[in-house]
Amino acid sequence: MNIYWPTRTLQEQILMKWIDAGKADEILDNTMIEVDTGATAILLVKSNREFFAVSAVCPHHQAWFIQGRVDGTSLHCPRHMGAFDMKSGRLLSGPSCGDLPCYPVRIENGKVLIKSE
Ligand code: FES
Repeated sequence: MNIYWPTRTLQEQILMKWIDAGKADEILDNTMIEVDTGATAILLVKSNREFFAVSAVCPHHQAWFIQGRVDGTSLHCPRHMGAFDMKSGRLLSGPSCGDLPCYPVRIENGKVLIKSE
């Protein structure tokens, strides 16, 4: 189980809900899936058997990451090649912009749960 939400205040975390993103064993390793929570477009990534939930849209110029590339815990934007750490959301390289919003993700009873607005 991994839970990362370094970009959220305590009040924001309390208002967030756990969203069912599907069965963990049906999601292939090294894949990306867009999850529409109704309020937020989230990218669920399974990389090296670990799940990450981040914004589906780049904070630089709003490119969709689904067309990008994953390398371990790094997510690479397809438009200007910005790279972000999916554990912390921190910008690793590329154009200057804010960090990538990250969402808590956990596995419970075989389901992938993402905490979102
Ligand atoms: S749109 Fe992602 S780095 Fe520019």
